[in-house]
Amino acid sequence: MGTAGGSRCSDPRLLVVAFFLAVLVHTASAALNYTRYRPVSSLRLERIQRHLRKINKPPLLTIESPDGDVIDCVHKRKQPALDHPLLKDHKIQRAPTEMPRGKKEEVEGERSPEGAQEMMVTQMWHRNGTLCPKGTIPIRRSSVHDVLRAKSLFHFGKKHPRRTDTPDVVSGNGHEHAIAYTGTTEEVYGAKATINVWDPSIQVVNEFSLSQIWILSGSFDGTDLNSIEAGWQVSPELYGDSRPRLFTYWTSDSYQATGCYNLLCAGFIQTNSRIAIGAAISPVSSYASNQYDVTILIWKDPKVGNWWMSFGDNTLVGYWPAELFTHLADHATMVEWGGEVVNTRTNGEHTSTQMGSGHFPGDGFGKASYFRNLEIVDTDNSLSGVHNIQTLAENTNCYDIKSSYSGDWGTYFYYGGPGRNPLCP
Ligand SMILES: *[C@@H]1O[C@H](CO)[C@@H](O)[C@H](O)[C@H]1NC(C)=O
Ligand SMILES: *[C@@H]1O[C@H](CO)[C@@H](O)[C@H](O)[C@H]1NC(C)=O
Repeated sequence: MGTAGGSRCSDPRLLVVAFFLAVLVHTASAALNYTRYRPVSSLRLERIQRHLRKINKPPLLTIESPDGDVIDCVHKRKQPALDHPLLKDHKIQRAPTEMPRGKKEEVEGERSPEGAQEMMVTQMWHRNGTLCPKGTIPIRRSSVHDVLRAKSLFHFGKKHPRRTDTPDVVSGNGHEHAIAYTGTTEEVYGAKATINVWDPSIQVVNEFSLSQIWILSGSFDGTDLNSIEAGWQVSPELYGDSRPRLFTYWTSDSYQATGCYNLLCAGFIQTNSRIAIGAAISPVSSYASNQYDVTILIWKDPKVGNWWMSFGDNTLVGYWPAELFTHLADHATMVEWGGEVVNTRTNGEHTSTQMGSGHFPGDGFGKASYFRNLEIVDTDNSLSGVHNIQTLAENTNCYDIKSSYSGDWGTYFYYGGPGRNPLCP
């Protein structure tokens, strides 16, 4: 067991492997230092490698992304989801039985009248030029470094419990939000929004900044919350850099034992051979210049019951099988849209980790980040614009949200902020 060689000194279980974590930061704005020396015991390294052998499936082809990601093209039937005990005999659904029906004008074009360029958004690894062959799906390979940045192997790929109460009293754990949400009285079968993409800077490696949709059912103060989530996130801990990446998440027990990000545990079934979950989105918006956004739609297949996700222009990514859930096996009771950051209060001060573009909603288009065309899917699988959303931000001097309505953008909002500033000490 353990690594080869190794000095014979004292207790072999304490054999220490000096590990050099060297991850370059590519953005000019973030001056984070991801380079860390960490002593790792050979037993721990062995455990990590065993876990990685389980989740990194043998690829038919490997593609190197210019950002350092390794993308494995894995046969669809070998993907991690099928390791789930409830999915042993699962027959992969090739496509949903039905897409949600939209209003006519929405089907015809959702281009922003103000210059957002949804069509051009792609993923960094596509620049390699090689694509994954038919019958395979692209999976971002996890490395030992990825796991070592997490608090423990158990924490790797998991979101820590984020709150204990209704959205009116979003709680601590250092998680802060600026979100819009629907009421809790209707049955919801999906949600959609077009989300502006930015690369907010992160102050500390184990903080993150994300912008996403939540599809929820169950109780916020119990252990039965079911959540399906997708959007973009910057998480140095999870990915080793500060690029915004497409991500998914799910849990059926309030972020405790079940669920994970992306394909880092058995659950989400991917059907698309061009989109890698967890891979960087490119290009991103810049201040007072080009704006880029991505459309995410999540809905429940009305016949089969699986929760499908599409990205961009109705590109199917894959689905969360109904078997994974309790409450969501039936329907959702609430949808949230917006941003979340972790504030670890390093040195006793509020974090300077940014949400959205790092600018407050009042700055408006081209400067503040937005979600537009908020829609939900109703009982008969049709999309409709949401009305009567409520908004919430724990501390509007740090991060804020302002919702509005227009003909082209339907219900939309600007959200985000810089974190630490004189009014947010
Ligand atoms: C980053 O941190 C490591 C050790 O933690 C240090 O050796 C290295 O010089 C630092 N790099 C920069 C650019 O500050
Ligand atoms: C694309 O990926 C292949 C396989 O990993 C690698 O050998 C090649 O150098 C990459 N090409 C580019 C242009 O990055």
